[in-house]
Amino acid sequence: MKESPLGAELRAELKSLIDQLQHALKEVIDSTDQRIALPPDSAQALRDFHQPLPESGSGAAATIERLIELNQRAGGNTGGPRCFHFVIGGSTPAALAADLLATAYETITYTWVLSPVGVQMELQALDWLKDLFGIPRDWSGVMVTGATMANFVCLAAARQWWGEQHGVDPSECGLAGLPQMPVLSSGFIHASTLKCLAVQGIGRGNVTRCVRDDFGRVDLARMASELEALNGQPALVIVNAGEVNAGEFDPVAEIIALARRHRCWVHVDGAFGLFAAVSPRTAHLVKGFEGADSVTVDGHKWLNVPYDSGYAFVRDYALMAKAFRYSADYLPSEDRERPTPGAIGPESSRRARSFAVWATLQAYGRQGQQRIVEHCLDLAQHFGEQVRLHPQLELLNEVQLNIVAFRYNPGGLDEAALNALNQRLGQAVIDDGRFLVGTSRIGSTTVFRPAFSNWRTRFADVEDFAKVVVEVAAGLGNTATGS
Ligand SMILES: Cc1ncc(COP(=O)(O)O)c(C=O)c1O
Repeated sequence: MKESPLGAELRAELKSLIDQLQHALKEVIDSTDQRIALPPDSAQALRDFHQPLPESGSGAAATIERLIELNQRAGGNTGGPRCFHFVIGGSTPAALAADLLATAYETITYTWVLSPVGVQMELQALDWLKDLFGIPRDWSGVMVTGATMANFVCLAAARQWWGEQHGVDPSECGLAGLPQMPVLSSGFIHASTLKCLAVQGIGRGNVTRCVRDDFGRVDLARMASELEALNGQPALVIVNAGEVNAGEFDPVAEIIALARRHRCWVHVDGAFGLFAAVSPRTAHLVKGFEGADSVTVDGHKWLNVPYDSGYAFVRDYALMAKAFRYSADYLPSEDRERPTPGAIGPESSRRARSFAVWATLQAYGRQGQQRIVEHCLDLAQHFGEQVRLHPQLELLNEVQLNIVAFRYNPGGLDEAALNALNQRLGQAVIDDGRFLVGTSRIGSTTVFRPAFSNWRTRFADVEDFAKVVVEVAAGLGNTATGS
């Protein structure tokens, strides 16, 4: 049989693509500080996507040019210094380079058998992360796509524990016949945790929120009496170390101490908040978290590694191994010496996220990470100052970490009008394109909630942000004041 020329053609194309790729990477990486946060005139570029499947294709060179052009016209600069939406970090130089290499090597980290280096790097990086945060070394860990999946892993381990407390292995038998799992938290519980509870058959609506105010701060006395009322039934308590509207914290040590007086699994969602442990300025906010049973941390937030990257840490390895057991005759069996991370977490196919995590910790160490965290703490304080100084901006919460809750308040408006105004202003600021930022609600109050998690952001960026909010508000004209 005659061999198709495909292989030779693609090899030749790859060779000639390398120069173009080098140039493109240089341009894209070099321009990250300058590119607009979100191009305001992207509608035509987005319409351009609606094309039929190419019959013969335009080849790699033209396709890569087109990809760059479309990104220039419609791409969000989420790694840039002016993206304050959600909680989004940047990428350190070492992490960015290592992540590109992970793709170039096409490394698969399902199991040691396929990539001893990739898996060993994951184990080493997870150990370094434990040391960075103060997570006990004997806990188990696995890399996943982000904090949603880290919560998923931790809650799967919790569910396994809870089933076994009732004498049932839920990974084998499911939840049928078991009572509903009691789940307690504050009002700070993150949407991703609710999603996990939904898909794990525990129920999104099955959370007892013990709250004492509009913001959702925990009511410890209520939590204590709810736990008391369980009469020794096993339960899940979720501690929120860092909530998304103002960077507030549940009282971590107090909730854990309370839960320990009962038969509870304690999970700490520290997606970005656990980074408080890295600086002596904020470490008190998470003091005692290691008394929990599982912890979630995100990498693509404050570690400043590229998307997607998150980490689940669980005290008891056996529970993860039971919850995610994955075996077949053609697959390796679980072996602690030559592990298969795909058998203790949700994904079997896994890219080498470990490269970027290992590289950033290797390149900058504990001190480098502390500098990134403290830079962002400074940015938040500096932005808080800008808000305080501006007569039309109103700070809505003490700045504790890296998120600042504020609103535009020109005076003379009631609460309903202020909420409507800030909602419209939020959209107008996004439409303006110079900053990517979102609004949310604290109780019934609409707030801007810029989150600072990127080493690239400068003091000048946050100063400009305050000015742009006021300028865009002025551009809304009379309607901005509701008149
Ligand atoms: C506290 C908390 N938990 C979980 C998540 C979900 O993280 P991810 O989007 O990485 O899945 C976030 C995201 O902002 C978060 O802030």
